[in-house]
Amino acid sequence: MTSTTNRPLRVIQWTTGNIGKRSLHAIIGRDDMELVGVYAHGADKIGVDAADLAGLTEPTGITATDDVDALIALKPDACCYNPLWPSVDELVRLLEAGVNVCSSAAWITGGKQSPEDRERIEKACIAGNSTIFGSGAHPGMTNMVGMVLSGACEDVDQIRITESVDCSTYESAGTQAAMGFGQDPETPGLAESVRRESEVFAESAAMMADAIGATLDRLTFDVEFTTATGDSDLGFMQIPKGTVGGVFGYHRGWVGEKNVVSVGFNWTMGDHVTPPKPLEHGHVIQVFGTPNMRTVLHCLPPKEWTEPGFMGLGMIYTAMPVTNAVPAVVAAAPGIVTLKDLPPVTGRVRRA
Ligand SMILES: NC(=O)c1ccc[n+]([C@@H]2O[C@H](COP(=O)([O-])OP(=O)(O)OC[C@H]3O[C@@H](n4cnc5c(N)ncnc54)[C@H](OP(=O)(O)O)[C@@H]3O)[C@@H](O)[C@H]2O)c1
Repeated sequence: MTSTTNRPLRVIQWTTGNIGKRSLHAIIGRDDMELVGVYAHGADKIGVDAADLAGLTEPTGITATDDVDALIALKPDACCYNPLWPSVDELVRLLEAGVNVCSSAAWITGGKQSPEDRERIEKACIAGNSTIFGSGAHPGMTNMVGMVLSGACEDVDQIRITESVDCSTYESAGTQAAMGFGQDPETPGLAESVRRESEVFAESAAMMADAIGATLDRLTFDVEFTTATGDSDLGFMQIPKGTVGGVFGYHRGWVGEKNVVSVGFNWTMGDHVTPPKPLEHGHVIQVFGTPNMRTVLHCLPPKEWTEPGFMGLGMIYTAMPVTNAVPAVVAAAPGIVTLKDLPPVTGRVRRA
């Protein structure tokens, strides 16, 4: 919807997993947003108050439901869409009904969708006068920082973004196995599996290319697997000796023979792996050009952080670039918009 308003924006939260729970927590705490509904995939969450799902104590009176028609009937301005698996059918239903969508679920430009599905999304935006936007930490914030840093350069040869981390505490055996971890490095199709699972990074590379005025001829993917030299038991999965313990790869965009954008990862799991490049424990943002620019984003605990471990910080870091974008996405022109199109998305001052 293109109109802006002074009333709080009516927002629904779509699922409350690792990321969605953090988004819900933020929506409830904001005075420029009104939580009007919560979608739950899991039967155990239906009927549960949003406060419980967000880890808050004061009930909101809003309970989770799987009744999509009832959620749409609430006439929300926006949906924070954080499911494990995005669904084009769900997106079309929301967008057609005029609900602007802010997603963390494998969406930046929609470039990895089939032409038919992308067209369905575009038509739904026109029908509903609505907008879809995707972000997160990586992809998302990392690309934004890369694009901003390129603004310091007279000429840009390449923007390169690398997530350089030990993933051992990201407890998702399915995702990690699809990325190659714990597999025989010679498994047929392993590199293609990693490419497919991480294809949204290619969308973010294309967005950055667009931002710097590069017309890409092609996108490629390359990956190097490093085998573990000993057994690691991570609890939720094993990384046996001789299987993949390190995955280092990039989605690259090319103009002729020039690699102008690269988005990738240098990931390790377990204790027995030496990656091809030393880990930097953060997001490494490099802009090669005149001048070269470089920074590393570290996500660190504030002094009042009480949760055990720091995984929750990464979840907030992923959720907030999406949730904080709601006002700008509601105000944006209908259709598919990216970080390149929106005004800067900022956080909000802490309420007293
Ligand atoms: N850009 C980034 O930086 C970044 C980083 C991490 C993750 N992500 C993406 O963000 C999204 C959410 O990640 P997450 O870690 O929060 O995921 P998650 O906790 O594993 O799952 C999110 C929710 O999806 C629903 N769900 C679970 N299994 C499902 C299934 N088989 N079919 C349909 N729905 C199912 C559940 O909803 P209920 O809670 O309602 O039961 C679950 O809580 C994912 O698409 C992920 O790829 C993006």
